[in-house]
Amino acid sequence: MIQRIALALLLFLLAAPGFAQAQKKDAFVPESGQAGKDVVWVPTPQALVDKMLDMAKVTPADFVMDLGSGDGRTVITAAKRGVRALGIEYNPDMVALSKRNAEKEGVAARATFIKADLFETDFSKATVITMFLLPDINLKLRPKLLGLKPGTRIVSNSFTMDDWKADETVTLDANAGCSTSWCTALLWIVPARVEGSYSLPQGELVLKQEFQMLSGTLTADGRTRALEGRVRGDDITFSAGGKTYRGRVKGKQLELR
Ligand SMILES: C[S@@+](CC[C@H](N)C(=O)[O-])C[C@H]1O[C@@H](n2cnc3c(N)ncnc32)[C@H](O)[C@@H]1O
Repeated sequence: MIQRIALALLLFLLAAPGFAQAQKKDAFVPESGQAGKDVVWVPTPQALVDKMLDMAKVTPADFVMDLGSGDGRTVITAAKRGVRALGIEYNPDMVALSKRNAEKEGVAARATFIKADLFETDFSKATVITMFLLPDINLKLRPKLLGLKPGTRIVSNSFTMDDWKADETVTLDANAGCSTSWCTALLWIVPARVEGSYSLPQGELVLKQEFQMLSGTLTADGRTRALEGRVRGDDITFSAGGKTYRGRVKGKQLELR
């Protein structure tokens, strides 16, 4: 009997440090407002996560990257829609928590996380970028974001991209399940670079480009008309002389319909 008790005690003492460590790990509970490398952690309300992914029109063909992925909710929600998604997060405890959350939700194969600095991460393979950072960080990232493949969708919780105006902005209210200060989603679609001059069957086209906004002239039948329009990925639309033109960029070529 004494031998059995001694053995049980020995086993307990051997297991205790590992047990305590496991308890400690599981006990990590993030606190809204906790420090982060460049931004504190505040979670995006789930209703806005859903809306952000809706606005980006994610499909299983996409590859979503969340820059500063927190507890992994955006990546996990995308993965539940059958999309491959990767979270970039600097805080290792948040990365471990995200991985546990993805396991719990049964989407760990599609929802992956790495501990990395978003400023040192290559996100050129992403077709959708999600983020909830800060205006100055968005601005710092802007040149890299604008250099992504035309058509890449970028969705930000609340924060803008300065004079690169969003293509779409949606604010949810309490009826839509969002009642904090962080209920606005902004969408940008990376525009193809189309600035230049083109000789087309429709006339001589001169395009000036400010992000997704177009101005310039169309000269046809000896008349030059001012134009205004926009670029959405590889698609362009503009109006000149009361007529609307649509077209598509193919490499360096522009085809108008
Ligand atoms: C406002 S939270 C957003 C979390 C999540 N994307 C969401 O919408 O619920 C910002 C996150 O970025 C992380 N972060 C801050 N600076 C970072 C950096 N330089 N690289 C990677 N992650 C960073 C923070 O730890 C935090 O989890």
